Amino acid sequence: MKFDTPATANPIDRGRVVGIAHDRIEGAAKVTGTAPYAYERHDAAPNAAYGWIVGSAIGKGRIAAMDLRAAEAAPGVLGIVTHQNAGPLGKGDMNTAHLLGGPAIEHYDQAVALVIADTLENARDAARLLRIDYAPEQGRFDLAAERDKAAVPRAGFGGSADTSAGDFDSAFAQAAVKIDQSYTTPDQSHAMMEPHATIAAWNGDRLTLWTSNQMVAWGVSDMAKTLKIPKEKIRLVTPYVGGGFGGKLFLRADALLAALGARAVGRPVKVALARPQIPNNTTHRSATIQRIRIGADKDGVIDAIAHEVWSGDLPGGSPETAAQQTRLLYRGDHRRTAHRLATLDLPEANAMRAPGEAVGMLALEVAMDELAEACGVDPVELRIRNDVQYDPEAGPQRPFSSRKFVECLRQGAARFGWDKRQPEPGRRREGRWLLGMGMAAAFRNNLVVASGARVGVDAKGHVTVETDMTDIGTGSYTIIGQTAAEMLGVPLEAVTVRLGDSRFPVSSGSGGQFGGNSSTAGVYAACVALRAKLAEKAGFPADEVTFDDGLLRMGNQSQALGALAGPDGLWAEDKIEFGDLTKRYAQATFGAHFCEVAVDMDTAEVRIRRMGGAFAAGRILNPKSARSQVIGAMTMGAGAALMEELHVDTRFGFFVNHDMAEYLVPVHADIPDQDVLFVEELDDKSSPMKAKGVGELGICGAGAAVANAIYNATGIRLRDYPLTIDKLI
Ligand code: MOS
Repeated sequence: MKFDTPATANPIDRGRVVGIAHDRIEGAAKVTGTAPYAYERHDAAPNAAYGWIVGSAIGKGRIAAMDLRAAEAAPGVLGIVTHQNAGPLGKGDMNTAHLLGGPAIEHYDQAVALVIADTLENARDAARLLRIDYAPEQGRFDLAAERDKAAVPRAGFGGSADTSAGDFDSAFAQAAVKIDQSYTTPDQSHAMMEPHATIAAWNGDRLTLWTSNQMVAWGVSDMAKTLKIPKEKIRLVTPYVGGGFGGKLFLRADALLAALGARAVGRPVKVALARPQIPNNTTHRSATIQRIRIGADKDGVIDAIAHEVWSGDLPGGSPETAAQQTRLLYRGDHRRTAHRLATLDLPEANAMRAPGEAVGMLALEVAMDELAEACGVDPVELRIRNDVQYDPEAGPQRPFSSRKFVECLRQGAARFGWDKRQPEPGRRREGRWLLGMGMAAAFRNNLVVASGARVGVDAKGHVTVETDMTDIGTGSYTIIGQTAAEMLGVPLEAVTVRLGDSRFPVSSGSGGQFGGNSSTAGVYAACVALRAKLAEKAGFPADEVTFDDGLLRMGNQSQALGALAGPDGLWAEDKIEFGDLTKRYAQATFGAHFCEVAVDMDTAEVRIRRMGGAFAAGRILNPKSARSQVIGAMTMGAGAALMEELHVDTRFGFFVNHDMAEYLVPVHADIPDQDVLFVEELDDKSSPMKAKGVGELGICGAGAAVANAIYNATGIRLRDYPLTIDKLI
């Protein structure tokens, strides 16, 4: 089904199942431990041996020599895979560094060997006996030091490096009020709950991977390219994923080395990355340096806005596109954005939840707070004055598909009690605590991605959906089940959803907050096809029948779906493909964040008292799981503001803090009160679901609201994240 004209009325609009809050249908399995993660698939490969990854001890250079003899002779060792015996390997499209390094070393903790043994303990012990001599080379590990050498990123990283409209320099020079500030954000790690893990098994020349991955088809395709085998020979299974946040978008070393290890020892091999391996062996979000200039009139109306971003990655890598939102969020006839990429030899940088906006908004929304203060305009009012209903770079001929930004600002402010804010900083006190309120916009692009599914109904009228879509803790199972139930007129309990298997039709996968809207639209398309087949069997015109209570109805006649399906059942498959609506309309999701903090006058300890937000993201398919997504994202935003930071050792080129004791993320107790309001919105240009993405919106701007609240409490303006105690004292 090609989606290239705005959606008209369709069965989803009935809102009997879609749009209603439902518990996650796999929730009980998740919380009782009966939803197995990849490493726990003992049923799949009961005789699996254990692999332990050895990572490079240098950040850049070469392996001069490897001596495997002591490790090979250790108890239980079955084999060791290195670049010397792995055979010729290619590289997947999505990987920048090689997943198995050597002799060249591209980054610290790059895998250089897999030791395979009969037990995990034996594999780990033997790994310590590997003798590797390195010839280190001087690497580039410091973004600030490399900034001046940063270059325009290669084309095709998923956006354009530079944009401009009007004449920024003249307009900024003439502006009545000017803001010109720089902001920095640190390297960050996804810190998902389930580490990367894979069991690999070969059957002849066919490979099966039980793994933890967000994008099934990418994983298959990149494994095929890396092993130089046809992708038809590979099956990838990932029905349950314990979080990804972008760290599992791509094929990683656990999967490749499990496959190589299983081939080497002739039996299945399981490999998990130990927690301390994850920050350096896998990907991370690059640190950024951001300069923002805003020129406005004395009432805060923006005439000129520029956002320049510097980030770093390995040779051939991609920038952190932190200026993305500045292209679309606020008015201004004169504008410029630019991304520059420094070559760094740190571990590979790549997407982390809301790549671009998550850290771009940390800068832009503090700059807006600074503008509000400079103009003496309330921060909510400032944003309302600068709303624009079309793409401000392209002009009025490219309107937004839907944009309820102002509604979010107004409704969010009212619900939070923004009118109680004291505009002058440092004026509210409660014992030792200075109290403050801050706010920020929320903005995240809405992407749409082709997505396929097949849907069947059996003789009992039970519906089954199959798609390679993943559920990374987001609630995909449930919204997909809701979509099929709505389309076929059955209760949610009459739908079985099967996900995360490369034997199923290729979906959008989970990434970029495109999965919820795109994958359900694919299920919608398959259901339209199945409805037509059922109507044809019943002998009625497809566009005149309705589906209710397990029945196909036409006028006062009806037939049970199960009877129409017959003993063999009836299946249909289709995919949604998106036409040029995204070119004709700017598509994005919007919101407003509010935060109240208390800052200890003596110790500078920051406690978030409450966070609240209002969000507009098209039809909310499942208000319960959508709320969970937004709350989780706001929490991650609070972590970015206050604690998340990979510390770079710029001498040796690695992230020093590499476990959950030293890479801090917020917990429930850090945010005692969180409130989410969804502003009603349908987006008929986004998909037949009239939904948009919501999984990443909540992180975008949340941390800036915290920063602005700290400023309101203390009068201290911090522009270097995270906003730790040492910077406040
Ligand atoms: Mo998201 S960073 O695209 O998983």
